[in-house]
Amino acid sequence: MSQLFAKKPLSQLLEEMKGENRLRRILGPVTLTSLGVGAIIGTGIFVLTGVAAADKAGPAIVLSFVVSGMACVFAALCYAEFASMVPVAGSAYTYAYATLGELFAWIIGWDLILEYAVASATVAHGWSQYFQDFLSIFGVHLPKPFTLAPIDFNVNTGAIFSTGTMVDLPAIMIAGIITAILVKGIRESAGFNATMVILKLIIVLFVIVVGAFFINTANWTNNFAPFGYTGVSFFGKTIWGFSNHSGAPVGMLAAAATIFFAYIGFDSISTHAEEAKNPRKDVPIAIITSLLLCTVLYILVAGVITGMVPYNKIDINAPVSNAFAQVNMPWAQFIISLGAVAGITSVLLVMMLSQPRIFLAMARDGLVPESFFGAVHDKFRTPWKSTILTGIFVAALGGLLPLRILAELVNIGTLFAFVIVCCAVLIMRKTNPDAERPFRAPWVPLVPILGILTCLMLMFSLPTENWWRLIGWLAIGMFIYVGYSRNHSKLRAKNNGNNVKDC
Ligand code: ALA
Repeated sequence: MSQLFAKKPLSQLLEEMKGENRLRRILGPVTLTSLGVGAIIGTGIFVLTGVAAADKAGPAIVLSFVVSGMACVFAALCYAEFASMVPVAGSAYTYAYATLGELFAWIIGWDLILEYAVASATVAHGWSQYFQDFLSIFGVHLPKPFTLAPIDFNVNTGAIFSTGTMVDLPAIMIAGIITAILVKGIRESAGFNATMVILKLIIVLFVIVVGAFFINTANWTNNFAPFGYTGVSFFGKTIWGFSNHSGAPVGMLAAAATIFFAYIGFDSISTHAEEAKNPRKDVPIAIITSLLLCTVLYILVAGVITGMVPYNKIDINAPVSNAFAQVNMPWAQFIISLGAVAGITSVLLVMMLSQPRIFLAMARDGLVPESFFGAVHDKFRTPWKSTILTGIFVAALGGLLPLRILAELVNIGTLFAFVIVCCAVLIMRKTNPDAERPFRAPWVPLVPILGILTCLMLMFSLPTENWWRLIGWLAIGMFIYVGYSRNHSKLRAKNNGNNVKDC
């Protein structure tokens, strides 16, 4: 039992950083911030804003972005403190190992697969839709069997139905291309990412500046919060605000839980801490800068879109480009689709870059097979085997599965990870009060406590079935832990004074 809660000492983590099988330290503050922005701005702002504004919040979506952004800022300050203390690959997984023990570390590592790999599959699907939209501008249409996943999910009835297609080919294609880039190396990946980030920032600024000329303030003032300001449920019962006909909460808070997806990604910077030139300083700076920048841009974009178009006329598939079509600027649609494709590509790049780094950290601890997940390529110095495995997983999910279910699963999984990181900061301040903290989260314990409360509130603002899906996912993880990881844990072997064979 005590092994389940055995903690990896901070000193051991720092010692391990000096080992042989390390990643190259080549990322500076600008590249790290650009990786953060690269991971953040994508499907969330370009796609989910539409559903959230039209069905859950109306123009009050602007406040939803503020609430969701605040939850992320609290969590980001906690991530930044940890990333500066323990700048190794592994992010929340490593932080949990040092504070809450092995079982929690495993749970969080397993949970992070939702945040990175499953989110990548969701994003690949979004990429495919925008890519096909873009091609259609030139009159190019893929054969129908290759346009979409073969099954989908009806949000209103909860039924799975056949789409009459075979596979989402562009989603598989983009997962393959990104995997190849990532195997080659992070420097090339970072260069590719920077180009995509610049392009999408230009498009987002275009939306804000040009869109501002088309704002009709009556769209804001007529009915600012048509679904109310709340929307919290507790296992199927709406306890604060209203719910829709399928029982899911609606309102400003419910929309905040949906568009939370738009913020996911800033924490991926902490998974690159091992590749940062000066991780103790640059990683916290990059986490906070990228998050604040994106929060401001999101609030402005949401304000502009809901000002341009009455909330009940916002398009739910391509809300940003469609808003410009509705004010008779169809040419802007071309520019925005291009920006969306670029934006979503960079999200995929960073998400798929992060997943293998979590596996790498878990492999070093023996919780997943080290010979596979811990293998660093001789020439490229990248975790190539797990990068390829991640690519196959993303391609399979992105190409074949109904991803509507998965997007909310990603949100609840990530919110759960944030709660654990906030708890871990509180615990670490008690257990290791004198450890060197180049960056200290301000106003502890207030900030972590607010982080825990806001993230929990957003978890309860998601439709209840997501809780069951999260619990199901974690249960599968527990089977693997009991069947494999517990017996191969290096910490367990060390504490028991014997060796564990790698497999
Ligand atoms: N934040 C990322 C996106 O919106 C996951 O695509």
